[in-house]
Amino acid sequence: MDYIRTLFAPETPAMQHARDAMTDPNDQISVMAEEGKLLQLLIRMNNIRRIVEIGTLGGYAALWMADALQDGGEIITIEKDSARASRAALNTAHDPRIRLLTGDAKDILPTLSGSFDMVFIDADKISYPHYLDWAEAHVRTGGLIIGDNSLLFDSVWHDQPVERVRPTARDAMRTFNRRLADPARYQSILLPTGEGMTIGLKLF
Ligand SMILES: C[S@@+](CC[C@H](N)C(=O)[O-])C[C@H]1O[C@@H](n2cnc3c(N)ncnc32)[C@H](O)[C@@H]1O
Repeated sequence: MDYIRTLFAPETPAMQHARDAMTDPNDQISVMAEEGKLLQLLIRMNNIRRIVEIGTLGGYAALWMADALQDGGEIITIEKDSARASRAALNTAHDPRIRLLTGDAKDILPTLSGSFDMVFIDADKISYPHYLDWAEAHVRTGGLIIGDNSLLFDSVWHDQPVERVRPTARDAMRTFNRRLADPARYQSILLPTGEGMTIGLKLF
């Protein structure tokens, strides 16, 4: 992984700073550098200009995505936890393409207007089907809907319950993946990154 990260996914100083600022073990839940680079590639390949990220943490993934945007592009990123949002605000203050909204995504999403090219879902797992409902209504045909942590500690494919994953969260993630796996609606895959990342190109 060091070889890949050094050669293909070197972090900018701002990304390094955002990662270094995640000192609390509970906060070590950002995407990895190679996943950030994958998001950049997807953004460039699909002419993505308007992005919503649900779950900011320290702004690490937002920094990766912003660096792939063409002129005029923007990321709206939503974080519920006020301490995390304050840290993300500091980490992303230099980048006018990143607009941070603090609050529960379930309250903020209905206030967003217009159409989006991509939604990156990376927040409370039990709400993934709800976020998918919103994304399906607001992402253009040919846009991307991406969900991180979609293997949910491998609980989605285990028959038996997996420690630290509530059955309700596992069921929600299974629903999310099943909906995105529908070939009539999406060109899609669940990539086996460390935590799993489901990527769907919206066909409808
Ligand atoms: C996995 S982290 C996000 C990591 C970030 N996308 C990155 O890769 O840098 C999940 C974040 O979602 C936030 N979150 C959880 N539920 C939320 C909700 N209902 N609305 C907004 N944010 C939420 C958590 O506070 C946490 O910071």
